[in-house]
Amino acid sequence: MTPLLSLLLLLGSTSARTVFSALSVNGVDQGHGVGVRVPISNAAITDLSSASMACNTGFVQPVSQTVIPVSAGSNVTAQFHHTSAGFIGPDPADPIDATNKGPVIAYLAAIPSATQSDVTGKRSFITLPNLNRRLNWFKIGQSGLNPTTHQWGSDLLFINKGNTTFTIPSCLSSGDYLLRVEYIGLEFATTYPGAQFYMSCAQLSIAASGEKLVAPATVSIPGAYHATDPGIVTPIVGISSYIVPGPAVFTC
Ligand SMILES: *[C@@H]1O[C@H](CO)[C@@H](O)[C@H](O)[C@H]1NC(C)=O
Ligand SMILES: *[C@@H]1O[C@H](CO)[C@@H](O)[C@H](O)[C@H]1NC(C)=O
Repeated sequence: MTPLLSLLLLLGSTSARTVFSALSVNGVDQGHGVGVRVPISNAAITDLSSASMACNTGFVQPVSQTVIPVSAGSNVTAQFHHTSAGFIGPDPADPIDATNKGPVIAYLAAIPSATQSDVTGKRSFITLPNLNRRLNWFKIGQSGLNPTTHQWGSDLLFINKGNTTFTIPSCLSSGDYLLRVEYIGLEFATTYPGAQFYMSCAQLSIAASGEKLVAPATVSIPGAYHATDPGIVTPIVGISSYIVPGPAVFTC
């Protein structure tokens, strides 16, 4: 193999390019693009301060108006594939290129209406400045680098053909929420900007039992990650542990 061809193959394999485009609830597939804001592009976001860090941008139109009903305590499975079209046949880079490494992380945020386009958190019909606040996100699960198996969240995503499952905490208040599921590709993360962020948001209506309500500690997105975080700037070769960026996982 010529050095140039080797380089081209290396470059070709380094961009993760994946899209979360469908959700299953307790194993029941809701359908491609149903209740999920699917970005047209499978390109990464790399600017931590970008408003697109919340729920991506440039969506397949029309954006689904479905709000997926979910009982607190349910298992939700985000389905990632190589492009916004979902699974369209054999593709060695579906759901991601197997050489890509990084964590898979899920967040929730309560929102007045799960279908509102504004993800700053304000009600679309109220414009008072003091209500123009960001959504309050909390982390419900993460899959980083397993120190025992040496598998990354990305490896499990590949093995599970793009499916990654998280449990909706049982102690939340009922209401509309956005579920943000993210894959961070770390191939270029030895400096910032370098880490590659791929995420979509699903539109949920969570029904809680009404018992043991707990208010999770929350973060803003953008704002949860910093250019100095050890999980944002990191090598992937030769490491045996990895600190997933963002807050601790919320538990009831
Ligand atoms: C992934 O989820 C889809 C939709 O629920 C399902 O049809 C498929 O069998 C799952 N694949 C694997 C490998 O679990
Ligand atoms: C969710 O998944 C966990 C782990 O596989 C399982 O123990 C639990 O019963 C599931 N919950 C539901 C509601 O299916």
